[in-house]
Amino acid sequence: MKLAVLTSGGDSAGMNAVVRAVVKAGIIRGCETWVVREGYEGLVRGNGDDHKAEKPAIATHKEVHLKDESFVQNLRFGDGELLRDGTSDYTSGRSLKGRYIVRVGWDDVRGWFGVGGTLCGTARSAAFRTPEGRLAAAYNLIKEGIDALVVCGGDGSLTGADVFRAEWPSLVSQLRESGKISEDLANTYGHLKIVGLVGSIDNDMSMTDMTIGAPTALHRICESIDNIESTAFSHSRAFVVEVMGRHCGWLALLAGVSAGADFIFIPERPPEEDSWEDAMCKMIQRHRELGKRTTIVIVAEGAHDKNLQPIRADAIKDVLSDRLGLDTRVTCLGHTQRGGRPCAYDRILPTLQGVEAVEALLEATPETPSYMIGVQESKITRVPLMEAVAMTHSVSKAIGEKDFDKAMSLRDPEFHE
Ligand code: F6P
Repeated sequence: MKLAVLTSGGDSAGMNAVVRAVVKAGIIRGCETWVVREGYEGLVRGNGDDHKAEKPAIATHKEVHLKDESFVQNLRFGDGELLRDGTSDYTSGRSLKGRYIVRVGWDDVRGWFGVGGTLCGTARSAAFRTPEGRLAAAYNLIKEGIDALVVCGGDGSLTGADVFRAEWPSLVSQLRESGKISEDLANTYGHLKIVGLVGSIDNDMSMTDMTIGAPTALHRICESIDNIESTAFSHSRAFVVEVMGRHCGWLALLAGVSAGADFIFIPERPPEEDSWEDAMCKMIQRHRELGKRTTIVIVAEGAHDKNLQPIRADAIKDVLSDRLGLDTRVTCLGHTQRGGRPCAYDRILPTLQGVEAVEALLEATPETPSYMIGVQESKITRVPLMEAVAMTHSVSKAIGEKDFDKAMSLRDPEFHE
């Protein structure tokens, strides 16, 4: 199997660990391994026209036999055996300019799990959203002889993956009919295997307990609030802290629990009262009367009231200042939440899931659905990718319909009113 891995959408800590795990597990299982730079954009751009479609580099891979003890030992000690045969582009010193689909070996991904962001690059590709873009992407994969793809990204990226796989047979026919690929190639590459891993700091995907990058982002927020807490204490101030999470309140909610916030605004559960201002002031007033010297309010960037009117950090600040007379500041944590070194869990989870992704691809048939690799109750799982994406979209739908109980229970099936 020729296997490519890409990262897509907003970056998240742990994406590099995914690439490392997929590449290493792929090599151990006898695959040829590639990375796609700049997400789907790299698939669309490919490697330029100096490659001949009729001569994909298939079957050039020197098979790895796990029974060969010395080879396994080399792998364990990271001897970089595969690199020495000059197959690696990352370490060969050849310029990557204009080449987006790159062969990688064992040593290319050494130490990647400790690095934040994504070293392969990522993009929110407009081109891949068009049929022409996906046709180019299919051509570029076939040109390199790649028949299996691991996509690590959020729900948008995984939806893209599923669309790509569903369209694949028609893309291959179009390429054959237009003479871009031969009949033989069309028959060889009739089926694309795809597996999705969820990389998102938002923890907003259904059918998995945790997304890659969310634990690190949460930790980052906690540290920031700890820092804020001490200066807030000094001045007896109130702070409104805006956190990321787009349509999902997981970061805000869990940061609130971890940092002992006084009030939390999340999209899935807006205050039930007609006036969120009254609800918040009542609570904070009580805390102050009990002797609290600091006030921390956390607001998710997508928070709104029960009529779906946005609740902004500045508006919260004005209410705290005007109605409670609190000296209030706003801190928007922004992209500090997304960058930086992954915590231990954001190295372990992607490693386990990356290995599982390779196994799922090796077992895939045209009949099996594309899987998303998740984690449920500490076990690595495979769930149908499209089901997970559809359930995730149902949350937004429920919020749009103001059915907040449904939104909460879709986020967390254990949730009871
Ligand atoms: O989806 C991840 C996320 O970090 C959201 O929490 C946030 O709303 C968004 O990406 C920000 O995107 P960008 O970096 O493109 O501004």
